[in-house]
Amino acid sequence: MRIIVTGGAGFIGSHVVDACVAAGHEVLVMDDLSTGNAENVNRKARLERIDIRDAQGVEKVFASFRPQIVDHHAAQIDIRRSVADPVFDAEVNVLGSISLMRQAVQSHVLGFIFASSGGAIYGETPHPAVETAAKAPISPYGAAKASVENYLFAYQKTFGLKSVILRYANVYGPRQDPAGEAGVVSIFTGALIAGRGVTIFGSGEQVRDYVFVKDVARANMLALDYVQSSVGNANNPDEMAFNIASGVATSVNELFNEMTKIIPAMSKPIHAEARPGELMESRLDVTRARDVLSFSPQVNFPDGLLQTITWQKNAKGASEKRVH
Ligand SMILES: NC(=O)c1ccc[n+]([C@@H]2O[C@H](COP(=O)([O-])OP(=O)(O)OC[C@H]3O[C@@H](n4cnc5c(N)ncnc54)[C@H](O)[C@@H]3O)[C@@H](O)[C@H]2O)c1
Repeated sequence: MRIIVTGGAGFIGSHVVDACVAAGHEVLVMDDLSTGNAENVNRKARLERIDIRDAQGVEKVFASFRPQIVDHHAAQIDIRRSVADPVFDAEVNVLGSISLMRQAVQSHVLGFIFASSGGAIYGETPHPAVETAAKAPISPYGAAKASVENYLFAYQKTFGLKSVILRYANVYGPRQDPAGEAGVVSIFTGALIAGRGVTIFGSGEQVRDYVFVKDVARANMLALDYVQSSVGNANNPDEMAFNIASGVATSVNELFNEMTKIIPAMSKPIHAEARPGELMESRLDVTRARDVLSFSPQVNFPDGLLQTITWQKNAKGASEKRVH
């Protein structure tokens, strides 16, 4: 199949591209390289450097490639930036997404897959959130993701666009940017490799669900089959959505302990003041993804951490060699 992966030069998108290529699909990556890296892009995929807000440019790419599937991962992913500049966040994450939906309809694509966020749209979840749980995004980033979900539902009803919404937990793994705002695993890894102290905001008892990026890429492959076979008659956005998570809640303190079994820390973590607006509990229920998509995570946490740390060590070594 011909598949456009937006954000395919980024962390998660590039693994989705690898999975699509491995399954024999023809892939075009649409990415403005604002946080992504051309080196992440599989050599068998075509890279078009383009901003998803550029409607004319997007139209040209759709016209020449004639995609059958759009797998949409391009986004402004920095929650703090979304708070500081919600208009920019909405321009990329809401308007950019709508522009892609319009093109998808005009090009008669067979399906649209959207990378949403389970961590950002449910709010506090003392119990694992199922897809129908109340939505309470506390950041503009989360509000934008919830809004795009609503647009996808409207596009299904109004224009017949078939979509699958994947609500990711905290994704970690190789190629995540340790300098970025997201990704505590990669931030801790970067600090531990460099022998720097690790800072934990608040008590460290806040819990998250960490899912390995290759499991997420596999979920996209399952969604690819599902979106084509589904009849596209959901009654609300939740019926189009799947939590993609490990189903295991881990505290930041537990994460630190698990990581220091692989790279010993030079010092104890420093506890800084809790960050305002940070969730205490983010837990996701993966029953629906398991029952409907046959998704179950295959990489356990210690293995995933080891792969992440090994990749980051090699990437650091390679970049130091380039500098000298
Ligand atoms: N990392 C997580 O834990 C997580 C959790 C939930 C959802 N998500 C979602 O998954 C997707 C991928 O996130 P990621 O962690 O890989 O981030 P990332 O920053 O590595 O990837 C985003 C990609 O989008 C590109 N991009 C940004 N703005 C663009 C624009 N205007 N036009 C074209 N390309 C643009 C970037 O260059 C980058 O390659 C995002 O939609 C994000 O919201 C991520």
